[in-house]
Amino acid sequence: KRPASSLIFIFGGSGDLNFRKLSPALYNLFIDEWMPTKFSIVGIGRRPYNNEDYRKHLLNGVQQFSRRKEGETGAGKWQDFSQYVSYLQMDAEQDAEYQKIADIVKQKEKEFGEHPNVIFYLAVAPQLVPGIVSKLGPLNICADTKCTRVVVEKPFGHDLESALELNKLLASMFDEKQIYRIDHYLGKETVQNILAMRFANALFEPIWNRNYIDHVQITASETVGVEGRGDYYERAGALRDMVQNHILQILCMVAMEAPVNFEADEIRNKKVDVLNAIRKISTEDVHRYAVRGQYGDGWMQGDKVPGYAQEKSVDPNSKTDTFAAVKFYIDNWRWQGVPFYVRTGKRMHEKTTIVTVQFRPAPNYAFPAESADTWRPNRLTISIAPDMDIRLRFQAKRPGQDMTLKPVDMIFSYKDAYEEHEPEAYETLLLDVMEGNATLFMRSDQVQASWEIIKPIQDTWAARQPVDFPNYAPGSWGPEDAEALIARDGRNWVTLP
Ligand code: BG6
Repeated sequence: KRPASSLIFIFGGSGDLNFRKLSPALYNLFIDEWMPTKFSIVGIGRRPYNNEDYRKHLLNGVQQFSRRKEGETGAGKWQDFSQYVSYLQMDAEQDAEYQKIADIVKQKEKEFGEHPNVIFYLAVAPQLVPGIVSKLGPLNICADTKCTRVVVEKPFGHDLESALELNKLLASMFDEKQIYRIDHYLGKETVQNILAMRFANALFEPIWNRNYIDHVQITASETVGVEGRGDYYERAGALRDMVQNHILQILCMVAMEAPVNFEADEIRNKKVDVLNAIRKISTEDVHRYAVRGQYGDGWMQGDKVPGYAQEKSVDPNSKTDTFAAVKFYIDNWRWQGVPFYVRTGKRMHEKTTIVTVQFRPAPNYAFPAESADTWRPNRLTISIAPDMDIRLRFQAKRPGQDMTLKPVDMIFSYKDAYEEHEPEAYETLLLDVMEGNATLFMRSDQVQASWEIIKPIQDTWAARQPVDFPNYAPGSWGPEDAEALIARDGRNWVTLP
C-alpha cells in the first residue's frame, strides 16, 4: 500500500547527500510504485538553479549513484519522476524566507485536494541544523503532530552536551513522534535481518547468551579516505562518525532482548536497554578498552594515496582519529562477561561490514588430538555489506578412513536465495518516514545513551594527544595496538577469506 500524499522539503537540496543518496532513493521508490499517488519534492538550497537545471543536476546523480540507472531495463521513468521535483532557492538563515515554505504547502494542499504529510529533511551540515529547526518550528504546519515530520541526519550533535541541547531544541518545537533521527545502517536489509534471524527462529535464541557465546565482533572497515569531506571529518573522527551511531546500533540488534511486538517504541525500548547496560569505561581505563589510529600515506591497489593529514581541508598536524577500536561489555544477565569488540576505519584493507558471533568450545573434545590440525570454535558470521550472507562454521569429518576434522561453512547468501534486488537503505527509510513508521529511527533517549557511552573515550582522547600519528598504513587492518587489544584476551580479529 502506498503512503498518504506527501510533500517533501529537502534542506541541502543542492548538496551531496541529496545528489548521491536521497534523490536516487526517491527515484527508485517511484519506479517500484512506492511513492504516494500525490507527492511533491522540493529541493531547498542557496545555489541559483531553475527547475530544469536542478532536475538535470539530479539526473546526473541518479546516473552515477542510483541502483537502477535511467535508461536501464526497469528504469526509464526519470521524465515522469522529475515532474514532481522542483527547486526553491532560499537562504535558510533568514526568518522571512520561511514564508515561502508555508506558501508552497498551501499551494500543494490546493493541488492535492487534501492536506499532505509535510516532511522536512535536513540534509545539511550539522552546525546549520539548530538554526533551521528554530525557524521551522514556529510555522503553523509544524504544530500538526500527525502530518508534519522532521528528519535529522547524523551526526546528531557533536558530543553528549550538544546532543542534549539539540534534543531540547527539537522537543521545544516538535513532538518526539514527529522527529526522525536517521541512522542509515538501520535501513540496510542485512541489519534488519538480524532481528528476523534471531526472533523468527527458535534455533538461535537458546544459545544466544553468555553460556554459549565467547565473544562478538563488529568490523566496519572502508577502503576510501575522507573523500573530500575533510572539513566535516576533522570535527568528527571515526569514533563519532561510525561508533557512536552505526556500530552501536548494530550491537543493539545483536544484543537486545526479544521484543513483544514490532511497534516502534517496543523495539526502541529493547535497544535502549542494551545501551543503558553497556559498561561505562572510566577515563583511567580508556587505554585498555579503546584504540585510535590515523592513516599515513602509502600505496593502495597500485595507487599512491595521501595520508589523512595531507587530505584537503585537513590540518597537517591533525590528531583526528580515522580508526577506532573499542571493547565493550554489556552488564546484564544475558551478556555478563562477554566482550563485544568493535573496529572501524578509513583506508583499511577492504570495504566490509561484518558481525561475528563466536561460540564457546565444545565442553569435551573426545576426538584424538591429531584429528584436527587447528581447532576452530563454531562461529556465526553475518556479512552486512558489500557481501550479504550469513555463514555458520562448524567442524565436519573429512572423507576418508581417518577421523580428521575440518571446519566448514554453511552459507545463506542473499544473492543465491532471492531474485529480487534489495532496496537501498535510504529507500527503506524514506518510505518509513512517509508512512510514519519510526521503528528504524533513533529516539532521543537512544541518542543520549550512545553519547554517554562514547563520552569517556572522547574526553580522554581529547585531553591526551596521540604521539604516534599516523600509526597505520593505508590498505592495512589498522594500528598494531588494535591487534593487541584483542590479542591480550587470547583472541583475534576475524576476516573472511
Ligand atoms: C556515514 C559516514 O555515516 O557512513 C561515512 O559519515 C561513511 O564516513 C559511511 O563512509 C559508510 O556508509 P556505508 O553505507 O557505505 O557503509
